[in-house]
Amino acid sequence: MKLSSCTAVAGANIALVKYWGKRDESLNLPAAGSLSLTLKELGTRTTVRFGEHLGPRDRLRLNGLEPDDVTRTRNVSFLDLVRAYAGTDARAEVVSENSVPTAAGLASSASGFAALALAATRAAGLSLTPEQLSALARRGSGSAARSIFGGFVRMNAGTAPDGSDSHASAIPEGDGWTLRLVVAVTAEGPKAIGSTAAMARTERTSPYYDSWVTTIPRDLLEARAAIAERDLPRLGALAERNALRMHASAMAADPPILYWTPATVAAIETVRGLREQGIPAYFTIDAGPHVKVLCTAGTASQVEAAMGATPGVLRTYIASPGRGARVLQETTS
Ligand code: PMV
Repeated sequence: MKLSSCTAVAGANIALVKYWGKRDESLNLPAAGSLSLTLKELGTRTTVRFGEHLGPRDRLRLNGLEPDDVTRTRNVSFLDLVRAYAGTDARAEVVSENSVPTAAGLASSASGFAALALAATRAAGLSLTPEQLSALARRGSGSAARSIFGGFVRMNAGTAPDGSDSHASAIPEGDGWTLRLVVAVTAEGPKAIGSTAAMARTERTSPYYDSWVTTIPRDLLEARAAIAERDLPRLGALAERNALRMHASAMAADPPILYWTPATVAAIETVRGLREQGIPAYFTIDAGPHVKVLCTAGTASQVEAAMGATPGVLRTYIASPGRGARVLQETTS
């Protein structure tokens, strides 16, 4: 087997129809589909090198630091999947950098595992189809499956017990639509409860979980129709409703999961205020307190200024639609 080194990049993605619930935790299979937008400016660049000489342990450097034990285990388990696929037991050296701080909780696991899936498989001498890569990235993080593709992306829940059809695909009807996503960061540090634990608790204890899952097929159809028509108010209203329903299902868990802070609510109010002034801006919120606002390219700086002036908002970013995961450099040893 040929071992080499590969550098790959992937953009983060923000779901407009959320993934919140698994039908199988060990294979990381989602309970339902989801739909997202891949971003250009927020992402991860990862270099992987496999080598027989690297010793008994994988060497990992994430954002210039050795990762903590939990992050290390998650990454090593993922590399084990790639090694099993490639039929090697060579250790890897992984160097990964995010374009924004990981701790800000801005979908860094999505771009992180998408970039790692591509860099590690290529460095191990494998050449997977985008669908196979997406299914592999899913094992690292459910949302990472979507970051293999660019622009608007849908994730198929799939039905195969081995998860082979549980991968994402591009929605080409959305290509060239010049939207922006303004990110309002409202807190520092990692989220209070990780998405896997929070999803499991919601599934086990929330009386609203089943209704949440039942609404998703309809939301996916509505989102695709809005994308095909390039109808931002329709897509935005759907995204807000979907995010609020996801959070409602989590808030109804026992013990409750509440990711919001006063700044989250203030940011929602700002978005509503922008709409009252005639600016088409729509929020979505992931498993954390930050607020992401979908708007047009022409109003993005106005939206950013309003979000930045909202009490409790610490920083803002403007992101635009980006390409799927891709290789930057490869060398064969
Ligand atoms: O990929 P995970 O396991 O971190 O889950 C992501 C969950 C949400 O970000 C809240 C929703 C989504 O679809 O990205």
